[in-house]
Amino acid sequence: RILILDFGSQVTQLIARRVRESGVYCEIWPFNVSAERIRQFHPKGVILSGGPASVTEAHSPRIPSIVFELGLPVLGICYGQQAMCEQLGGKVENSDHREFGRAFVDIQEDSALFRGVWSKGNREQVWMSHGDRVVKLPPGFQVVGTSEGAPFAIISDERRRLYGVQFHPEVVHTPHGAILLKNFTHGVAGCKGQWTMAGFKEMEIAHIREQVGKEKVICGLSGGVDSSVAAILLHEAIGDQLTCIFVDHGLLRVGEAEDVVRTFRQKYNINLVHRDATALFLENLKGVTDPEQKRKIIGRLFIEVFEEEAVKLGGADFLAQGTLYPDVIESVSFTGGPSVTIKSHHNVGGLPERMKMKLVEPLRELFKDEVRALGRELGLPEVVIGRHPFPGPGLAIRIPGEVTAEKLTLLRKVDSIFLEEIRQVGLYDAIWQAFAVLLPVRSVGVMGDGRTYDRVCALRAVTSTDGMTAEVFPFDMAFLNRVASRIVNEVRGINRVTYDVTSKPPGTIEWE
Ligand code: XMP
Repeated sequence: RILILDFGSQVTQLIARRVRESGVYCEIWPFNVSAERIRQFHPKGVILSGGPASVTEAHSPRIPSIVFELGLPVLGICYGQQAMCEQLGGKVENSDHREFGRAFVDIQEDSALFRGVWSKGNREQVWMSHGDRVVKLPPGFQVVGTSEGAPFAIISDERRRLYGVQFHPEVVHTPHGAILLKNFTHGVAGCKGQWTMAGFKEMEIAHIREQVGKEKVICGLSGGVDSSVAAILLHEAIGDQLTCIFVDHGLLRVGEAEDVVRTFRQKYNINLVHRDATALFLENLKGVTDPEQKRKIIGRLFIEVFEEEAVKLGGADFLAQGTLYPDVIESVSFTGGPSVTIKSHHNVGGLPERMKMKLVEPLRELFKDEVRALGRELGLPEVVIGRHPFPGPGLAIRIPGEVTAEKLTLLRKVDSIFLEEIRQVGLYDAIWQAFAVLLPVRSVGVMGDGRTYDRVCALRAVTSTDGMTAEVFPFDMAFLNRVASRIVNEVRGINRVTYDVTSKPPGTIEWE
């Protein structure tokens, strides 16, 4: 396995994903992790990420010396390259010639790092983002590639198996980047690339059995991919020691609650408590219009109902959660200071302590794509695996203003027409999220010979890789016209349809 030391780059996670895609297990740790932990991890190689600091500053991060003492192969990327040079006797300077974005490197020498893809004399496209650059090599190193802004764009000490690149091989804008990383992990570090989802599944099942023993586990089920995969994996490991609780807040889309119940009870034969709490949630949301207020109420009720059901079951020793790797990576932060709360997300975070339960988190080593792959391995239907993300507070935050049963019914109809049309033209998987919002506005319309004065809805569809930023999906007008006409004709009570063309930022994906 490979250890990735994080120096705070925005794209460190991409390094891990590329490495894992090549079948090699890896973990991301902060650069200042202890020597002892590194030793115990037994990495076959170390990748040093980029980062926002400058090695020319006195207190900027350094590579733990144990990495070099162990004689491990090292690949330093951007800041990682600079730190390695600085620490091994080279020199780094601020450069006037900054490079950002697409650049080209001229390959001067052959290297194990680009065996089979790049060779001496070629010019190759890469993606750069740096201000500092290496100006003097440490002893033992040679230049194997140069770029206009970085005379030492790629350097290596083939004997000690130390490599440094000024560009970012982990991003897609470096077309052969994944191969370079694979050359490092497989070719240089000697990893075999046998880390597969089938292997992970067996390992994790053994691990769960060991952790849980004969004790009882409860798991909250939402219908989303993460909790579904966690539940099925747990069930394979411990069978009926697992009970799932599905708190149905009545704010799901058409048919979703029924799907959850059918999939888990019938297909997987998992003990499932389905608590229909629709009335309770609607009652508590009566008259509430403030978005944060709605979120807080839903979050609080969710936990209360979940706890009530857990107590009815006689409690349990473990609570299972579908926590993913991006939530547990110890991140390196150089910005400091509290960040503002844009929206309060809800989860059952505080519950384990209150109910004295221990946590079992079978997905905590996986990225989202890997969870999907594991879901396939476990036979989860493709419609669940590929489902767009859906917010915990459900349709309540897609109804600005007060939430009522009548509005929920209208919104469900609109939403299902929109999604049906998207599936029809084969665009569902190209879109990160697509949904409808019911606006607290009425507008005048004309239908047949009559005047209408009905509700307005907005459609939203975005592309994104992680939900942090998003672009509007560019439907063609013919498609939007068809959807709008179906909605107005088929959903009584809606007479106008708009398409939201705001990216994130400045908009958020959801309206509330
Ligand atoms: P925003 O609206 O903040 O959403 O751009 C980013 C992503 O998060 C989802 N979202 C939530 N997910 N609980 C969740 O589990 C929540 O309370 C919640 N609020 C927003 C949203 O759908 C989008 O994918």
